[in-house]
Amino acid sequence: MSQLALIKALPKAELHVHIEGTFEPELMFAIAQRNNISIPYKSIEEVKQAYNFHNLQSFLDIYYAGANVLIHEQDFYDLAWAYFEKCAADNVVHTEIFFDPQTHTDRGISFDVVIQGLTRASQDAQQKLGISTHWIMCFLRHLSEDAAFETLEQALPYKDLIIGVGLDSSEMGHPPSKFERVFAKAREEGFLVVAHAGEEGPAAYVWEALDLLHVNRIDHGVRSEEDPQLMQRLIQEKMPLTVCPLSNLKLCVVNDMAEHNIRRLLQQGVHVTVNSDDPAYFGGYMNDNFIAIADALALTSEELKQLSANSFEASFIAKEEKQKWINLIENLV
Ligand code: HPA
Ligand code: ZN
Repeated sequence: MSQLALIKALPKAELHVHIEGTFEPELMFAIAQRNNISIPYKSIEEVKQAYNFHNLQSFLDIYYAGANVLIHEQDFYDLAWAYFEKCAADNVVHTEIFFDPQTHTDRGISFDVVIQGLTRASQDAQQKLGISTHWIMCFLRHLSEDAAFETLEQALPYKDLIIGVGLDSSEMGHPPSKFERVFAKAREEGFLVVAHAGEEGPAAYVWEALDLLHVNRIDHGVRSEEDPQLMQRLIQEKMPLTVCPLSNLKLCVVNDMAEHNIRRLLQQGVHVTVNSDDPAYFGGYMNDNFIAIADALALTSEELKQLSANSFEASFIAKEEKQKWINLIENLV
């Protein structure tokens, strides 16, 4: 089987994708129009030209602006449904999706509208496409600890629909320690926990995510390589890193895909996975990410299989379910 055929054939779990980051310009225009909201672009071409980022913040400014057109339950449904269709095309059979409630509640949209629209789409994805989903609610780290506590309170009635909490947005200057108490409360309430760390921020932020937030996974974490002791810790604990290659390239975390460290991390025994992060903004969904690293880093078939097996191993699905997918991957020729 060619590398491309193998990438397509591998079942995959996606563990790091922001639903607001799957908002394709075509859908953004359509929803803006039906909600009578003007957006600062004349055409889809113009939107795409604006997607030229030099760091995380330059992306986040545009990403939050795009989310402004989402108002009704159906808007959130349509957003999520479009992503599930991409999953089906890429053989992503399970996905653990971030959503940013504060991006919406701060604009006066109720938490209920957001979660109802998203989860109605994931129920349909299960029924019609056979794709399973867990939802992870992220706190925006540039906002206050109080605001995060308030968001956690709002989520409690929907506990059955949300498997975990995460931490995203502007990393520099907003270390995990800022949210130690919120995460403690979230864990007490039974949520699993993940956090973005070591994307733009230093290895010290990854240590904080491990020691203060007690995360089940690290999102990104690519800067962990700068600290050999941290590398030892990640390897020993089999701590998953949800790596996002095209995101790292677009946000200038790496200058060239050939310099990406995902293969080195894998070879050293770190539990890395491949993910798309904000695929509508970064130029590709799951398979595009696999293809980009397979080409730039000359990954072997065994490495591609390891990466997809890792995605199930690191997911929040039941043990037997993980084993089923891992067996299927091992039996692919
Ligand atoms: N990092 C931090 N916050 C985010 C990202 C990211 O890659 N994508 C969406 N919000
Ligand atoms: Zn992310």
